[in-house]
Amino acid sequence: DHVIFSGIQPTGIPHLGNYLGALQQWVKLQETSPATTKLIYSIVDLHAITVPQDPQQLKRWKREAFATLLAIGLNPDRSILFFQSSVPAHSELMWILSTTASMGYLSRMTQWKSKLSLPEDTSPLDGGSKSKLKLGLFSYPVLQAADILVHRATHVPVGEDQSQHLEFSRECVTNFNHAYGPHLVAPKTILSPAKRVMSLQDPHLKMSKSHSDPRSRILITDSPEQIHSKIMSALTDSTNSVSYDPENRPAVSNLLQLLSHFDPQGRSPEELGVVYANLNLRNFKTTLAETISSQLSPIRKRYEEVMAEDDGAYIDHVQRKGAAKARESAEATMAIVREAVGLY
Ligand code: TYM
Repeated sequence: DHVIFSGIQPTGIPHLGNYLGALQQWVKLQETSPATTKLIYSIVDLHAITVPQDPQQLKRWKREAFATLLAIGLNPDRSILFFQSSVPAHSELMWILSTTASMGYLSRMTQWKSKLSLPEDTSPLDGGSKSKLKLGLFSYPVLQAADILVHRATHVPVGEDQSQHLEFSRECVTNFNHAYGPHLVAPKTILSPAKRVMSLQDPHLKMSKSHSDPRSRILITDSPEQIHSKIMSALTDSTNSVSYDPENRPAVSNLLQLLSHFDPQGRSPEELGVVYANLNLRNFKTTLAETISSQLSPIRKRYEEVMAEDDGAYIDHVQRKGAAKARESAEATMAIVREAVGLY
């Protein structure tokens, strides 16, 4: 039977990249999977602290992240929703995996380099950068592997930026199973059609929470006014018409891709380029802003309802129930792992 696992960091309200690349798939899987499929989605607070966080803000962000999962349509009676730190087995398995994980493989991974703004060819042990690199950021992928493997996940729906981490998770399975026998399950990556959503301000950069310009991303709880203003200020080019030409018109093509992801008729960016060929950029942007707003508005409404009615108690209650189920799921694997390793 299938087990779906995925995670998101509580580092601010999710943006369209998170939503189209991952969260929307989580909901689709909930709606289309047979009852025998286990669905497990975690807010990965232990990953969030691999870069400095303000503790009070982290608490708020965790609650907001939980509310967004409910707002997009995840049903806590069907999908297991929980904070990673509520299930200590994630950390325990991480330690065990780290004893068979390769330093060399980890040092080639790109995410910690990008977080430190280091060039691709830097090694973690290189002189000047050494002092800045924290062990937790370096071993981030081992914790991510533990998240997945502790639940024996068969499928992991993520955006393309997580592909390397999932490759590493499979490597962890190979290393562990080689040492201790065939106990862990290698997960498959599920990529959505919107596997890499690009910034509104630079079509060559992925949309990201950490980019300094808030106009580069639309948050899933943005108001129609905020969406309108961000789309209106999105980068275009000097040709005041619409056409899909990623090579010569990357910025306008990026907007057509975004429209395509939200198009109720599922038309491709090429088709939409033809449909809107006669609009000027201003009118095209208005159409795009309205399309996005109308699809995000139910999410925004539910988010505001959850946050308004809740002083924290409801989310806390739902989270505890999810964490109890997640602990049960993780314990089944840990019993096998501890036995295999000789811990008891
Ligand atoms: P995070 O919190 O950065 O992002 C959550 C999900 O959003 C996807 N995503 C995107 N997809 C398309 N286009 C974009 N511009 C874009 N930006 C973000 C991410 O690929 C991700 O699926 N390391 C993970 C969290 C994690 C995890 C796990 C995921 C921890 N343990 C186990 C899967 C399984 C992360 O930082 O995601």
